[in-house]
Amino acid sequence: MEKLKDIKLCVFDAYGTLFDINSVTKQYCEELGDIAEPFSNLWRSKQLEYSWLRSLMNRYEDFWCVTEASLDYALDYFNIKNEFFKINLLKAYENINCYEEVPTTLSKLNERGLLTAILSNASPSMLHMAIKNSKIDCHIDSCLSVDNLKIYKPHPTVYSLISEKYDLNKNEILFVSSNSWDVAGAKSFGFNVSWINRFNNKKEVLPFECDIELKSLMDLPNIL
Ligand code: LAC
Repeated sequence: MEKLKDIKLCVFDAYGTLFDINSVTKQYCEELGDIAEPFSNLWRSKQLEYSWLRSLMNRYEDFWCVTEASLDYALDYFNIKNEFFKINLLKAYENINCYEEVPTTLSKLNERGLLTAILSNASPSMLHMAIKNSKIDCHIDSCLSVDNLKIYKPHPTVYSLISEKYDLNKNEILFVSSNSWDVAGAKSFGFNVSWINRFNNKKEVLPFECDIELKSLMDLPNIL
């Protein structure tokens, strides 16, 4: 497997990369039945769409607000009128699980002396809850949220938060994301990028491609 030399810092996207978005609705697969997957996909796609639209309109609200609004859309689309169920879904999102390979992967990177950070659209409180619930706080050196910038990924000022925090050259930084649009944004900014293509998605037709594509985070230590 090809390797990236000189990497000193691995920066992770949060949702879909470290944290399993589908684990939220999987907890309610009985209530959702065979709409569980399309419901989860619509909730996620609307969450991202609203983040991009709010950035373009210069009408920022934090990611928790965007997550609730996109959930409202998905509940309405599937004609689910149950406030208690909505509250349960939001609670499950707040306490989201990480993918099973995450603790082991982060631990291996720590053992190798690599710095680890999260760069996310999530609000600081969302990130705090997610990393605490997944018990990975001991493996993460820093958590950076877009919240102070009041603009979402893939705006370049978001990725520049990393360059401002760490005195490293861009070629010493590896950005890791399962979201192909986030991969393009980080590559466009100038980082090395690994795409965690968990669901065998097609590549975006954008002039910014990942350096290395992996199926899961399990192989990440092997490319460094
Ligand atoms: C994040 C979303 C976009 O964590 O996955 O930034």
